[in-house]
Amino acid sequence: MTNSNTQLRTRLAEWTDRVLPSPTALLESTVARYQREGRPVFRLGLGQPDFPTPDRAKQSAIQAIHDDFTGYTDTAGILPLRQAISKALRRDIGLEYGPDEIVVTVGGKHALFNTINTLCHPGDEVLIPVPYWVSFPEQVKFAGAKPVFVQTDEADGFKVTPRTLAPYVNGSTRLLILNQPNNPSGAVYSKKELAELADFIRERDLWVISDEVYSSFVFQPEGFTSIASFPGMRERAVVINAVSKAYGMTGWRIGYSAAPAEVSEAMLRLQSHTTSNPSSVAQKAALAAIEGPQDDQTVIREQYMARRDLLVEGVRRIRGLECLVPEGAFYVWADASDWLGRPVAGRPVATVDDLAAILLEEAGVAVMPGTGFGSPRHLRLSYSVALPEMQGGLAAMEALLGSK
Ligand SMILES: Cc1ncc(COP(=O)(O)O)c(C=O)c1O
Repeated sequence: MTNSNTQLRTRLAEWTDRVLPSPTALLESTVARYQREGRPVFRLGLGQPDFPTPDRAKQSAIQAIHDDFTGYTDTAGILPLRQAISKALRRDIGLEYGPDEIVVTVGGKHALFNTINTLCHPGDEVLIPVPYWVSFPEQVKFAGAKPVFVQTDEADGFKVTPRTLAPYVNGSTRLLILNQPNNPSGAVYSKKELAELADFIRERDLWVISDEVYSSFVFQPEGFTSIASFPGMRERAVVINAVSKAYGMTGWRIGYSAAPAEVSEAMLRLQSHTTSNPSSVAQKAALAAIEGPQDDQTVIREQYMARRDLLVEGVRRIRGLECLVPEGAFYVWADASDWLGRPVAGRPVATVDDLAAILLEEAGVAVMPGTGFGSPRHLRLSYSVALPEMQGGLAAMEALLGSK
């Protein structure tokens, strides 16, 4: 580190030593640079749907601008939006939340940030099943709490159970972050698995954050169940969701939390001193998306399921890659550990980060290395891209790595 860097570091807050940059954001900026330079990239690294924001949402936002609906709103979000979210929660997960128990936020990420910073005391331990979404540990560290990583196995479908969680629980354990459908593994928990987890969480007197941002991408016939919906769980659960993935609205930045009133009131206090309300115009767009007919969700789900099957089949054809069939979200979590220690295109592969860099530079395929998700063995490939791009990416990977 240079002298000036050292001086700068000493002037920055202590958390800057603990919190890492977001690897997904870094990949996105590298891909953007490639595209600016006119180099073709197959974007299998992306975490956003390829379908557009629904027309009703766009029109509602345009109307909001024409109506000068451009001032501050309630910090918690406009009442009609919180009422629509309340209705959607009743419909989708069978839970009653009043508008005062819902806080509309700047994306799901912000709802998680509010929650973690409201529930965690310094030194509290937070259970994070591995693999995990990249921001969980960093947000926990930011809050002064300690991420405790709970390994999962491919044999268990990358899911935690009371048996695998138990050794990690002690007097400092505060909460479990349960993200399902899971980014990156695609794991979805059955009702039976959730009932067992719910018993465990109650017995150990823990909280649970249920990150449900991929809940509209569940492919198993049983559908999606929230852990918050089991007896005695609502009072110890915070449900997080967003319009980002469900409605192709990642850039609008609207998410929300649903939690017992006391927790929501505290989160609101934090939000009132940080972001205030999310964009008034984006709230109107989200309202139209959530309130309108939901038929397109089924169409999208079927399309994504077909793409999932193609991507799984394609990945399984490529030498040195293995994967399970994901039950939800829009990622394939491929075990690439066969490549570790073997050269690709004459270049050494010591880590999955090396492999991802080689795939990008030699084959023009952007994928996420598993490292940021807690795995040194995996690559995450996204099927939220149009078919030609996905097929082009698969063909380029197969040409570089070879077939089985
Ligand atoms: C598991 C998970 N939770 C939360 C988020 C955040 O979503 P948003 O874009 O609404 O902030 C993401 C985004 O990738 C995610 O994958």
